[in-house]
Amino acid sequence: MLKEWYEIKGGHRLEGTVTISGAKNAAVAIIPAAVLAGETCVLENLPHIQDVQCLKEILEELGVTVDYTDGDCMRIDSRTLTNTKALSEAVSSMRASYYLLGALLGRFHEVELALPGGCVIGARPIDQHLKGMRALGAHVELDCERNIVRAKAERLIGAEIYFDVVSVGATINVMLAACMAEGNTVLCNVAKEPHVVDVANFLNMMGASVKGAGTDMIRISGRPRLHGCGYAIIPDQIETGTFMIASAATMGDVIIKNVIPTHMEAISAKLMESGARVIEGDDGRDFYLRVIMNERPRPINVKTLPYPGFPTDLQQPMMAYLCAAAGVATINETIFENRFNHVKELRRMGASISLKDNNTAKVKGIPALRGADIYATDLRAGASLIVAGLAASGTTNVHNIHFIDRGYEYLDKKLTGLGAQILRKEK
Ligand code: UD1
Repeated sequence: MLKEWYEIKGGHRLEGTVTISGAKNAAVAIIPAAVLAGETCVLENLPHIQDVQCLKEILEELGVTVDYTDGDCMRIDSRTLTNTKALSEAVSSMRASYYLLGALLGRFHEVELALPGGCVIGARPIDQHLKGMRALGAHVELDCERNIVRAKAERLIGAEIYFDVVSVGATINVMLAACMAEGNTVLCNVAKEPHVVDVANFLNMMGASVKGAGTDMIRISGRPRLHGCGYAIIPDQIETGTFMIASAATMGDVIIKNVIPTHMEAISAKLMESGARVIEGDDGRDFYLRVIMNERPRPINVKTLPYPGFPTDLQQPMMAYLCAAAGVATINETIFENRFNHVKELRRMGASISLKDNNTAKVKGIPALRGADIYATDLRAGASLIVAGLAASGTTNVHNIHFIDRGYEYLDKKLTGLGAQILRKEK
């Protein structure tokens, strides 16, 4: 198999304008949600990323007609969908395919789904998703040997469901199924992330009745049928944050267009605390954020929290930035265990980071990281290493970039447009 990596010649200030793509985490939920309609949905502002491509293939395997040739627009005609068994390798290869659980259960009252690879009940469980489906009246069975979940219901009936943890995935998945349940559903202690709201807006465009998304409680009145619609996906909060951090990390001056500034408040606040200037603006067509940095970052404390707190997906890029802080910064990860795989790689670049209890990192800033060969272990770790490579002196080779392709559209092209020296290489 061809090996691809990014070669980055670091130490160049990022300057200029970059436009943000559609939100990955909204897209990967809205594409499966579109099959609830049993008609045609046209989705716009989709990012060109591996996860979207993978979902297209999964829907086609199920018999859905998908037209995805026209720029960032996908036409999904699910009238032809007959197969409720999503068991292929493509399904288990991507986590977000679990949204087919709610979507197929909602529309067909039965589904068989291959689960995301690895141990399901381990580090990233889906117990809250299953609890929600059961509360709606589904019989849910886990086949741990084959790593498959089966759910079936005579009738889906609205219920009051309290989530034990705030989970983006469980909130969205149960919302999908509940849209077509009989009667009313109340979801308590739900996630409030921008993409939860985006999915709710999309469902409402299909004729669903979802109220309260963006607060702690979502109320849903079930509908027997939903209809097709057109919908444009919101800009990507995490891609925006990654460019904001990359600008600051390279002592840059970058205007980031097609953003929703309110989604970025936690990141803007932390960057400003570290000494960056963050300016919000509106050029008459788009909202933008401009991030300017002229000094080594001040050491700050960052704690990841559910929205509107600081997103865990930006913890890793933020750590790369803070490697050059003028003092000791602290990062506390409260959402996921073991989300410090990037630390080993940053250390190869000279970073001084100590870990405590696998959830707290103390980053003792050094004047600059130095180029090295480093390996992405997941999507956001990959983004972190890109930020590190851009800021470092010398040449950095970031390997395993298939992880980055899952979630960042044209990352190298966008960075090149800002003056970065980054090349996609293969052998
Ligand atoms: C989503 C995002 C991911 C982001 C994460 C947290 C998508 C496609 N992915 O992932 O980028 O990092 O939110 O913002 O939107 N949990 C349980 N039981 C469950 C579900 C979750 O205990 O049934 C726990 C998880 O282990 C984790 C926490 O809840 O500790 C939050 O996870 P969750 O919000 O569900 O993350 P994802 O939806 O997987």
